[in-house]
Amino acid sequence: MSHKRVAILISGGGSNMLSLVDSMIGGHAGRPCLVLSNDPEAGGLAKAAERGIKTASVDHRPFGKDRSAFEAELLKPLLASQPDIVCLAGFMRVLTGDFVSRFQGRILNIHPSLLPKYKGLNTHARAIEAGDSEHGCTVHEVTAALDDGPVLGQARVEVKAGDTPEELAARVLVQEHKLYPEVLRRYCMGNNDPVLLP
Ligand code: GRF
Repeated sequence: MSHKRVAILISGGGSNMLSLVDSMIGGHAGRPCLVLSNDPEAGGLAKAAERGIKTASVDHRPFGKDRSAFEAELLKPLLASQPDIVCLAGFMRVLTGDFVSRFQGRILNIHPSLLPKYKGLNTHARAIEAGDSEHGCTVHEVTAALDDGPVLGQARVEVKAGDTPEELAARVLVQEHKLYPEVLRRYCMGNNDPVLLP
């Protein structure tokens, strides 16, 4: 059985990356082929290497505002890993339309809100400020528009009275670690039917 090759892009600790990697075992149709970061110090790189997964990093900082130049470098290890699917997992750089178009229809992202609500940053604080009773996370296909592509899965979390953004974020992250692996498992088998976790 030839597995789908899955490349995972991270910027930080990589807890979502680990939930994906640890799920791609046994009968799963995917296998990780690369963990790539825009930060050479990202904690997730060492965790991936411990699991025997190829890692690479391209520091975005020397490129300043020149996203195309940064992406040209980022594409070198990424294309060399020949991914069938690309997963953004806590990857905090906004990608250009040119970059995304190379992987159109096979690049996913997890976002910590119930899209289309709260695209962008500080999603937990914004949900609390708005007085929302529920919040959550979304896995979607990536398009040129930020946090905007077709939804492949959502998980809901109750917002509790007195919640701080940190407390809410921690409960959402637990759901992220369930939702993303389930969506990827199906996606690797060609099933894009949305997953809705309670
Ligand atoms: C997650 O909440 C993810 O949704 C967001 O960044 C956070 C990073 O988590 N984009 P990790 O790096 O996967 O632990």
